Amino acid sequence: MNGKTGGEPKITISGLTKSYGDKHVLQGIDLEVYPGETLVIIGPSACGKTVLLKCIIGLERPDSGTLLIDGEDTADLTSRQRDSIMAKTGMLFQQSALFDSMTVWENICFRFRQSRDLDRKELRQFAIEKLGNVGLGADIADLSPDELSGGMKKRVGLARAIADSPEILLLDEPTAGLDPIMTNNINQLIMRNAKTIGATTIAVTSNMDGAKAIADRIAMIYDGKITWCGPVSEVENTGNEYFDQFIHQRGSGPIQMRLKRR
Ligand SMILES: Nc1ncnc2c1ncn2[C@@H]1O[C@H](COP(=O)(O)OP(=O)(O)O)[C@@H](O)[C@H]1O
Ligand SMILES: [Mg+2]
Repeated sequence: MNGKTGGEPKITISGLTKSYGDKHVLQGIDLEVYPGETLVIIGPSACGKTVLLKCIIGLERPDSGTLLIDGEDTADLTSRQRDSIMAKTGMLFQQSALFDSMTVWENICFRFRQSRDLDRKELRQFAIEKLGNVGLGADIADLSPDELSGGMKKRVGLARAIADSPEILLLDEPTAGLDPIMTNNINQLIMRNAKTIGATTIAVTSNMDGAKAIADRIAMIYDGKITWCGPVSEVENTGNEYFDQFIHQRGSGPIQMRLKRR
């Protein structure tokens, strides 16, 4: 079951594998992501969600399989072409990964401060606009990230990920560790911004309510493969016992691992 939407995929992943020593994390991932859609990836902890995002952005190299972006095989790319894929991809890392040695606005402009022909004052102003897109004011632009709360860090991380209007937006657990109100708030910001910039978005989350709120389609990784992928409207009737157990957080069922409860 694939739950395809129309058009050529932005990202096509076939038979992708990745192991660390004898730990076979991804064992043949097949997945297509369509332009402008939001695909949410769920799955038990340590099933390889972050590893998959890192393969897509090029921070990890798959052992086998193919990964096409805009129809181009990423394995054949020169380092310059790889840089250009990186440049059209924004990523929010699991721990926000802001640089504490830089101010908030410098973090937001970090990736393109050299490539854009803007002076520091203009860059700071640009960053303040981006802060506005995630509901934050100019008053935090000159703070250090370690002065921010967890929810603000996530929002600054999101502002950085979308700053350059990326074609592909990768979000790793954007709401992990946040309270329910902040979680809803971040999910709304993700939806609004992803649709405004028209980015093809892949978000990893363990929060099922959030997944349903932001996703066009949901895919679940289990045992190194995509066990189910389809539109949100079908999640209650997948007929897939792994998917069912996971989304209803049942303690007993075919999934042997301890479920990550929230
Ligand atoms: N660089 C690495 N070296 C060794 N093992 C790794 C590395 N990166 C990830 N792993 C392992 O791969 C598995 C999947 O990790 P990850 O993708 O981070 O899981 P999650 O689904 O929770 O995001 C875990 O068992 C993790 O320990
Ligand atoms: Mg992870």
